[in-house]
Amino acid sequence: MKEERGGFTGTFGAITASVGSAVGLGNVWKFPYELGENGGAGFLLIYIICVLLIGIPFMLSEFIVGRRTRLSAVGSFKSLTDKNSKWYLIGVLGVLSAFLIISFYIVIAGWTLHYLYLSISNAFEAVDSVAVNAIYDGFISGYFIPIFWAFLFVVITATVVISGVGNGIERWSKFLMPLLFLLLVGMCIRSLTLPNASLGLHFLFDVKFEDITFKTVISALGQSAFSLSLGMCCLLTYSSYMKKSDNLIKTSIWIVAIDTIVALMAAVMIFPAVFSFGVEPAAGPSLVFKTLPIVFGSMPYGAFFSALFFILLSIAALTSTISLMEIVVSYIIEEWKLSRKKSVLIASSAIFIFGTICSLSLSGIGIFELFGIPLFNVFNNLTTNYMLPIGGIGILLFVGWKMKIIDIKDELSSGGQYKIKFFNLFIWLVRVVIPVMIVLVYIF
Ligand code: PHE
Repeated sequence: MKEERGGFTGTFGAITASVGSAVGLGNVWKFPYELGENGGAGFLLIYIICVLLIGIPFMLSEFIVGRRTRLSAVGSFKSLTDKNSKWYLIGVLGVLSAFLIISFYIVIAGWTLHYLYLSISNAFEAVDSVAVNAIYDGFISGYFIPIFWAFLFVVITATVVISGVGNGIERWSKFLMPLLFLLLVGMCIRSLTLPNASLGLHFLFDVKFEDITFKTVISALGQSAFSLSLGMCCLLTYSSYMKKSDNLIKTSIWIVAIDTIVALMAAVMIFPAVFSFGVEPAAGPSLVFKTLPIVFGSMPYGAFFSALFFILLSIAALTSTISLMEIVVSYIIEEWKLSRKKSVLIASSAIFIFGTICSLSLSGIGIFELFGIPLFNVFNNLTTNYMLPIGGIGILLFVGWKMKIIDIKDELSSGGQYKIKFFNLFIWLVRVVIPVMIVLVYIF
């Protein structure tokens, strides 16, 4: 018997789950450190331009394909093209990207659990940079502990995904996203009321145009796509669970707006504290794991705030790993014709194996490296720098040149229920401007 495909119960559920996917480590871990590395406000400005100009049309393109066909990454392209067409490879690339991303994402997600545990056991009290480095290096180079946490994260993710779209993904997102928001507000207030918090705000909001370089643009573009979960058919898959009555344009604006606000709030939570305690804002990927513990360690009730912060980070990561796993699971259900339960089992076992490899590649044992680079970094760079842009261009060109205008309009307006404004702008952004921008950025 064929299983019910399921779906979101309404627009609110669809938006919350998609926001759950978009808001993740990308917002709370990556955005602040990219901003710190790229000089602050200039990056922010370019980021906001990318999100508005590229993020919304790009997201709508994924929505159009997904909701039109009500199928996931691969099936959707197959159903819109002839038998011999190769467009479905975009979906295959999407599933592969999702799989590789979740394999290293789950490792960092596991770290957040370990740091939550360290916060609760008050391990950061009065630490200095030598001590936090020792904690971090000792932890990630270990064999079993990081793998244990990653395993736990896979299990939690699988438990949600196995319950299906409405009962699992939507229900959990509706509970976790408001909680995340509350925690963020609380942490922002804490950070903003620290002495000299305004230094951090200047760093964030005083644009110095001379600091904007080509690298700023590349980083902002890549980060905006990653943060909005674009380019790997994730929101395509989620939109296949949306209702015909959901307004796609409104939905995309909401997701983009909330994702950007959360990234901004994460920056407002982090930088005033970083400046207040005089630690390095441009620490890079280790900002959250090496720099912030120093801040927490020297703050009154630091263990409490540190625990809140890592709870927040784990929640953000969880709703994203859910969506990444769902891309893979929905593919297996449709293409291999298996039940959801079996699909989740297969997907999570494979993810755990690859996650273990990623984790071990950081432990310095030397295997699981490619030309001396740990597979963790290989997967991270390969997906963000190559697979996502290629997949993204594929999706855009497919919608722009392969689909019929009348079908696109029909989908965007939900069969004429809603007005479409700026259609010409949209279609030319999708057909030419965004693909050319992505190519240019990557050529240089
Ligand atoms: N957008 C998520 C984040 O910001 C990451 C992600 C990318 C999730 C692609 C799903 C698909 O962390």
